[in-house]
Amino acid sequence: MSKIVKLGFLGCGNIGGGVWHLLDEMHDELLKRDDIDLRVEKALVLSIPLARTDVPTAILTEDAADVLENPEIDIVCEFMGGEHPAADFMQRALEHGKTVVTANKMALALNWDKLDAAARASGAGLYYEASVGGVIPVIRSLTLSLEADKIDRVMGIVNGTTNYILTRMAREGSDYADVLADAQRLGLAEPNPAADVEGFDAAYKLSILASIAFHSRVTYDKVHREGITGITAADIAAGKEMGYVLKLLAIGKRDGDTVEVRVHPTFLPGDHPLAQVDGSLNAIFIHGAYCQDMMLQGRGAGDKPTASAICGDIVYAALNDRPTRPSFANTPEPDPALTFTDDWRSRYFVRLDTPDAPGVLAKAAGVFAAEGISIDAMMQKPACNGRAQVVFVTHETSEKAAEKAVAALNGDDMRVESVIRVEK
Ligand SMILES: NC(=O)c1ccc[n+]([C@@H]2O[C@H](COP(=O)([O-])OP(=O)(O)OC[C@H]3O[C@@H](n4cnc5c(N)ncnc54)[C@H](OP(=O)(O)O)[C@@H]3O)[C@@H](O)[C@H]2O)c1
Repeated sequence: MSKIVKLGFLGCGNIGGGVWHLLDEMHDELLKRDDIDLRVEKALVLSIPLARTDVPTAILTEDAADVLENPEIDIVCEFMGGEHPAADFMQRALEHGKTVVTANKMALALNWDKLDAAARASGAGLYYEASVGGVIPVIRSLTLSLEADKIDRVMGIVNGTTNYILTRMAREGSDYADVLADAQRLGLAEPNPAADVEGFDAAYKLSILASIAFHSRVTYDKVHREGITGITAADIAAGKEMGYVLKLLAIGKRDGDTVEVRVHPTFLPGDHPLAQVDGSLNAIFIHGAYCQDMMLQGRGAGDKPTASAICGDIVYAALNDRPTRPSFANTPEPDPALTFTDDWRSRYFVRLDTPDAPGVLAKAAGVFAAEGISIDAMMQKPACNGRAQVVFVTHETSEKAAEKAVAALNGDDMRVESVIRVEK
């Protein structure tokens, strides 16, 4: 006899609707293939009359208890977004012994310890494949396939909106504000784009990704975050001339007990696999002692790709009574044995506005040398109105040394226009 598994949705907008349709379309196939009969019992929305969904009105509810405390429901699927009440609702569901599937990186990254503790206490499952990289199976790859490896690096393009904006700026030579306005008009960026363009979304995702990759809780507050709002067409054009492509990267590295986690605009050599990932696509590049270099790529958002990942979690939960768990102590604070450094090593692209006068290059080179920084490449643009644009790309150095050099370069006659880290 087939196993009947009843689902309750918290939220039924874009993603909830996508999940509903996929489950509806695949119901008979999953029954035949896996012998599971998946049924959606209730779906919580803010307002039934205003609900933006075509799921049957009969299953909609405005009362969270109809999902959270419904003895019929086995799996609670959270698609509300935001931290609260989503996190409280998930915690309540887990405390009632219900497995939770979520796509909510913010609620998870900020409340993972509480949710994990509630899941462990009741024996329920907590699954979140869609919270990072949409359909890309990166959580399952890290928690299952690569569990025995020693991952020392994850670098991801995990925000489609910013990748779309940077791709168009590079292709068209356009300014940030113009491309953002167009992306908002096309519905590819939110009316309030801060979560994406300021790097918050990518930082939540990096907190989750790095925790799993490095087997230790990497809390959100440890993630250094910079967005793309200060990036200019001139930066992208100068980088392009030197063979670089600009991406907003979420970077996590572990070296022994030292961890660095940072989200910021980053130049990559044009032949790096991540440099080829354009538009709203997402990709995660992973390096491990045994797996070595690998990359996963796919759609990081959208109702259908996200629904695919979520339904994968639902089917996994329905078929596996013993949940998989992250292999680390999910404490409110990171493991005290770890050190989180803000003095990581990188290369630096430094674009200067200088007088077009003799001795300027030597002066700038002297500032770098004083901090022990050697120069890998230099480019000078034709002078205009007595001013020149000069770009230096350094060899690898420390963040603090680069900061000191930049402070010393900024003077009466010379101005640092931009500093962008360069990875390989
Ligand atoms: N959109 C994507 O491509 C994507 C990709 C990956 C992950 N995610 C994540 O998926 C989640 C949902 O995104 P979405 O795009 O589907 O959002 P959405 O379209 O705004 O849908 C949110 C749903 O939650 C309901 N809701 C919100 N707050 C509520 C509250 N306090 N009480 C009851 N119901 C509430 C809304 O009800 P009403 O319908 O009545 O307003 C709506 O049904 C978010 O965590 C997001 O980060 C989204």
